Amino acid sequence: MTLSRVRKLPAGGFIGVMVVPLVLCAYMNPGEASGLPFSYPHPEKDREKEELVPVSAVEDLMREHGVLSRILLIYEEACARLDSGKELPPDIIPRAANLVRRMVENYHEKLEEQYIFPHFEKAGEYVDLVKDLREQHHAGRRLTDRILRAKDRNDLTGSVRLFIRMYRPHKAREDTILFPAVHYIVSPGDYAALGKIFDAREDEALGEKGFERAMSEVEEMEKELGIHDLAKFTRPVK
Ligand SMILES: [Fe+2]
Ligand SMILES: [Fe+2]
Repeated sequence: MTLSRVRKLPAGGFIGVMVVPLVLCAYMNPGEASGLPFSYPHPEKDREKEELVPVSAVEDLMREHGVLSRILLIYEEACARLDSGKELPPDIIPRAANLVRRMVENYHEKLEEQYIFPHFEKAGEYVDLVKDLREQHHAGRRLTDRILRAKDRNDLTGSVRLFIRMYRPHKAREDTILFPAVHYIVSPGDYAALGKIFDAREDEALGEKGFERAMSEVEEMEKELGIHDLAKFTRPVK
């Protein structure tokens, strides 16, 4: 199957992709405490005696993008505080940058570079997009170096803002263009194998329950900055 089918997918195809997870969420049990290190309700407790539905390769990458999005919010809040002279725990930006290094740059992006991008390069599909994404990975690593070594406030906030500006469109393109196309370019057998490889690589790179522990770190930082409560982001609209 070629990627021409991806580009010609009817809108309903994408709506279907969006609706199915929403329907599944409706059947989760949101009231149960998870017992996991992060506090968001998790259905794993209810399924602990059964075999869990495996996390697929793209789901794995997308939920890591979710962690990255929350780190970008932490970066944003930290910059706003530095600009306004509001108190900021001095270790917040280095902690966030070290999590980016460990989870995003040394794990997530390596998976994309080794297991996702080559499929497109070999097929000659989305080649320009993949080239830009690869270049942004390199630029992101240089920015994280600068964030971790920043000598003054302007240097720090400048590098953090460049990182935010680059990674929002970066992950949005992967989520909406490249990852949906994976389903058309990788065979079902190879796709199932990718999920297992990603699982094993996650344990190697981040340790057991690496995603959950990364989430815990993010939640800790959000709490320290007072941006943990989702309801605080709700805006009254009349
Ligand atoms: Fe990427
Ligand atoms: Fe990514």
